[in-house]
Amino acid sequence: MNLVKHYKNTDTQWGWVIIVLHWLLVLPIIGLFALGLYMMDLGYYDDMYILAPQIHEAIGIIILALMLFRLCWRLFSTTPKPPATNSKLINLASHLAHNAIYLVLFAILITGLMISFAGGQGLQIFDWFIIPGPAEFFDNQATFAGDIHELAAFGLIALVILHAVAALKHHYIDKDTTLTNMLGIKEK
Ligand code: HEM
Ligand code: HEM
Repeated sequence: MNLVKHYKNTDTQWGWVIIVLHWLLVLPIIGLFALGLYMMDLGYYDDMYILAPQIHEAIGIIILALMLFRLCWRLFSTTPKPPATNSKLINLASHLAHNAIYLVLFAILITGLMISFAGGQGLQIFDWFIIPGPAEFFDNQATFAGDIHELAAFGLIALVILHAVAALKHHYIDKDTTLTNMLGIKEK
């Protein structure tokens, strides 16, 4: 198997920076969705009542930092051309879906911060340190941001399912290089 050697994207292949960030973030993003749903079921006397949101927020901050870097990298780099067998409509759909994933993910990350900062005490990372931030910009910020956070999280999971099905379709039905390219495997 011939692996890609460059870290930057080219006209035909994704580079390692995008590939590593792509696969590294899949599990934490899906994990935070599951943890978020679990948090909704916790009662005041549950053991995880304090710890679960702290884990959720700490991982969330790491995802936010990596996503900001990934976004900048994407904005300032070229992207591989889609397979020639793709129709124009499929190319447009995939372009829109990727942009929608970025948009919805940032909506989740920003509303997450808005929920956590709303109390005015900053964001507590375990008992290690506090990330200071603006308190409430408007009344009921935590409730409003919480509703968007939840809605966007479900939207993201729907988009990701569609996205993964599309990737598998490319691989098994169209038999093109879309998936192998994102796995860092070089075209012959
Ligand atoms: C990929 C990123 C994330 C995903 C998929 C995600 C998902 C979720 C889900 C499904 C819930 C439960 C629904 C709700 O109560 O609103 C939740 C709750 C929550 N999330 Fe996130 N979240 C993410 C990032 C963050 C970040 C970055 C923060 C803050 C730094 C954060 C803070 C919170 C808080 C405080 C709650 C409890 C909200 C409440 O009680 O209404 N989340 N999250
Ligand atoms: C949390 C889950 C996921 C997120 C947030 C996500 C997000 C993205 C984004 C934003 C892109 C555009 C390239 C970039 O900017 O990085 C992309 C490309 C891609 N993703 Fe995912 N992805 C996820 C899961 C998956 C899974 C599970 C698969 C495979 C089954 C997959 C396969 C691909 C492939 C093949 C590409 C390249 C598409 C192309 O070249 O047009 N992704 N993904």
